[in-house]
Amino acid sequence: MNIIAIAAVGRNGELGIGGKLPWDLPEDMRFFRDSTRGQIVIMGRKTFDSLGKPLPKRENAVITRDRGLVIPGVKVFHDLESAVRFYQKSQEFMGRDLFVIGGAEIYRLSLPFVRELWLTEIDGDFVGDAFFPGYSEGCLNLPEFKKTSTRLGVECDSASHRYFFSVFRRANS
Ligand SMILES: NC(=O)c1ccc[n+]([C@@H]2O[C@H](COP(=O)([O-])OP(=O)(O)OC[C@H]3O[C@@H](n4cnc5c(N)ncnc54)[C@H](OP(=O)(O)O)[C@@H]3O)[C@@H](O)[C@H]2O)c1
Repeated sequence: MNIIAIAAVGRNGELGIGGKLPWDLPEDMRFFRDSTRGQIVIMGRKTFDSLGKPLPKRENAVITRDRGLVIPGVKVFHDLESAVRFYQKSQEFMGRDLFVIGGAEIYRLSLPFVRELWLTEIDGDFVGDAFFPGYSEGCLNLPEFKKTSTRLGVECDSASHRYFFSVFRRANS
């Protein structure tokens, strides 16, 4: 099972502000939907709240410290490691990829587990209150991950930001 963290980041790792994305990039939303369709998505409780409902056509998992939290259509875990172990062992989910879809707290927890980071790197400065770990000044500063591919997004947003779909892979994988 490949374990991938997928995120869109501004130049300084901005991920979100007030529970929302700081940009409107339909091409990136399509990339996210196409990449994760039919797969497993794991997210923090705050990201789930900002989505408001489970993502359709995906296995949804939420990480929370709240032992009483029950969400219809979602598997709830109390630490990321248990969630990863559950899906790795499960026959039902064999052959699927596991996508960590945020936010900042859960990306940070996922770094020891993920093999790949799929980052949409947006060439713009945004106001944020959640940041991708180890990302600043348009660069990922995590030595264990190396960029293996990048391509320019073709649709401009309303502010004409350039953005790149980049894949980083754990060096020893
Ligand atoms: N740009 C992107 O690609 C992208 C993607 C996703 C999200 N976002 C943005 O990111 C922001 C949300 O990120 P965030 O960092 O504030 O929140 P988050 O990572 O989505 O969720 C944080 C929550 O996860 C749970 N949690 C964290 N550590 C835990 C642990 N060790 N054990 C058990 N549960 C744990 C806690 O839930 P409880 O409080 O319930 O205990 C915590 O409040 C939003 O603005 C969203 O729009 C952006």
